[in-house]
Amino acid sequence: MDSPSSANRQRRNGCRIVLFPLPFQGHINPMIQLAKILHSRGFSISIFHTRYNFPDPSNYPHFTFHLLSDGLSELEASTLDTLRLVKLLIANCVEPFEQCLAQILSPDDLICRVVCVVSDAMWYFTQAAADKFKIPRIVLRTSSVCSFLAFCALPLLRERYLSYMDSKMEAAVLELPPIKVKDIPRLETHDGEDMYRAIENMVRETKKASGLVFNTFQELEEPELAKLQEQFLMPTFTIGPFHKRFSAASTSLFTQDRSSISWLDAQAPGSVLYVSFGSIAAMDQQKMNEMAWGLADSMQPFLWVVRPGLVRDSEWLAMLPDEFLEATHDRGYIVKWAPQQEVLSHPAVGGFWTHSGWNSTLESICEGVPMICSPFFGDQMVNSRYVNDIWRIGIRLEKGLERGEIRDAVRRLMVERDGEEMRQRVMCLKEKAGFCLNSGGSSYEALDALVDFISSFTF
Ligand code: UDX
Repeated sequence: MDSPSSANRQRRNGCRIVLFPLPFQGHINPMIQLAKILHSRGFSISIFHTRYNFPDPSNYPHFTFHLLSDGLSELEASTLDTLRLVKLLIANCVEPFEQCLAQILSPDDLICRVVCVVSDAMWYFTQAAADKFKIPRIVLRTSSVCSFLAFCALPLLRERYLSYMDSKMEAAVLELPPIKVKDIPRLETHDGEDMYRAIENMVRETKKASGLVFNTFQELEEPELAKLQEQFLMPTFTIGPFHKRFSAASTSLFTQDRSSISWLDAQAPGSVLYVSFGSIAAMDQQKMNEMAWGLADSMQPFLWVVRPGLVRDSEWLAMLPDEFLEATHDRGYIVKWAPQQEVLSHPAVGGFWTHSGWNSTLESICEGVPMICSPFFGDQMVNSRYVNDIWRIGIRLEKGLERGEIRDAVRRLMVERDGEEMRQRVMCLKEKAGFCLNSGGSSYEALDALVDFISSFTF
């Protein structure tokens, strides 16, 4: 699929790109996939990475890794409060990033002729460093365009809707249909105000970038892309879905339990609901119980990723009521972490109950698996609204985690006609995602354009 001509390869020989992922699973996966894509097009790759979640370089023999000292204490690095971690990392990485960039750009550094920096959008301070060294910066926004538009509008939305956010949760947000007031990405933690500022900085600094890359495809978010281009005037490249070019398996931060695949092998086609809420989401014990009993009451087989830490302050499996484990032992299978892409492509899987992280959403679309959505925060609120209202390939749980609603949604998705229609629609999107990566498809062409764009920096 991605086979560049040898002439192009030669032309790009010696051109190095620096990539700098935000060090969380949902951000590392797409950035490393992008690195692999660009490497396959002839560029040399340097990865700048924090000590926090530093990957094993032996998994990437073709890349050069640079360790950034992120200044996190052991205690800070072990917190499960992701917003707090992001805030600390942003504050601590400004200088190490600049120093590392200065070093790699120095004439004494023999490995490179760095042509540009690709940074996660949240690393907004990298724009100033790139400007200082007069090197182009391309931003990778790892989530959907629709959720990015909501982040761009956040100051306005807070001003207009904040006063009644809690009393009119179902009201429409007129500026961004189909979003409702309850879908506005809120950051109501003790670090909330700092994070709102960080989002504003992210948007402002993204506007200064030379280019913008999204892990999505044109056919999925066409109207949203048109809106984006009214605000962001630089070239924008939608070259996703990345994981269909290079899988995310090598970037997994947790060990993937392959027994889930053998268990699926013994299940009937389309019968299993796969349940996973990604790498960050956490809940309290009461919500976990509702989840468990909703699943039990649905009477459907399920494969459930119960990640350690999914329930705050609870040991693994102590999170689940004994009666639930007894009631479902013949039709449920529980693991700490699964090979998700492989699970979703397994013929036994007929639905995905997800937190609507963007990687999970795209992976589900690409395998033609309809969803139940339980968003927790940030982009998940908007992604799930689009799954339910715009693409109509899933059911968003509107009451949070409530046993009766869960039971009904699982049955609707897995055995009722409604679910079958969602399955047909998501199969259409799967087909479109496949086409867009083939020769002449939108993402294929956009990748060629991105490669030309980056190559133009060298002349
Ligand atoms: C975070 C944010 O929470 C999310 O909203 C944002 O879109 C990206 O960053 P995360 O919550 O981890 O990500 O979710 P998601 O984007 O879905 O990424 C999870 C990744 O982990 C996926 O690539 C998925 O395939 C992988 N995964 C998940 C596994 O490999 N095994 C599992 O058991 C669960």
